Amino acid sequence: MTSIEAVQGDITTERVDAIVNAANSTLLGGGGVDGAIHAAAGPRLLEACRRLRRTDWPDGLPVGEAAATDAFDLPCRWVIHTVGPNAHRGQTAPALLTSCFTRSLDVASGLGAASIAFPAISAGAYGWDAADVARIAIEAVRSHLAPGVDLVRFVLFGSRLLDAFDHALSRPAD
Ligand code: APR
Repeated sequence: MTSIEAVQGDITTERVDAIVNAANSTLLGGGGVDGAIHAAAGPRLLEACRRLRRTDWPDGLPVGEAAATDAFDLPCRWVIHTVGPNAHRGQTAPALLTSCFTRSLDVASGLGAASIAFPAISAGAYGWDAADVARIAIEAVRSHLAPGVDLVRFVLFGSRLLDAFDHALSRPAD
């Protein structure tokens, strides 16, 4: 049975097996949590992302997909990069955001990760409403089977996002 929790904090300090990065399709870094993860992981993370672009994802990582690298100077073992839907580009279909969580869980399960931390994907620069992100994230994790993953932790940077996730967690599963 997977336990699901929401905490306030900085995902770069999480001591879980894998943390998820709210990346963009280039996989070459950015601001927000992407910038924080690259800064904390060190330059080898960008080299690993460039390798992903040269090999598996030459045209970039599509919205809703996920791909893993080592975590280098971070306290976790892997970084799972996913690309959230961008509301400013009209990418507002919930299924796109659901896919970020379910594909990241699939990748984590494939790696043998037992614990994973997610940020509030798309709730920052990509303009999605916090309550919608929380509802979609919790529903996706509750309903998606990820063999071997027994802890999912949502790590929220501020109290507003934490409140949104606490509220979504308090609602009974559909
Ligand atoms: N730990 C946890 N959460 C964080 C951290 C952190 N260190 N830094 C930021 N956040 C939160 C933001 O406050 C927001 O709630 O992560 C959430 C997602 O915000 P963004 O990082 O802006 O991600 P997103 O909305 O998916 O936009 C992705 O922004 O940084 C660029 O390269 C990235 O182009 C991509 C876009």
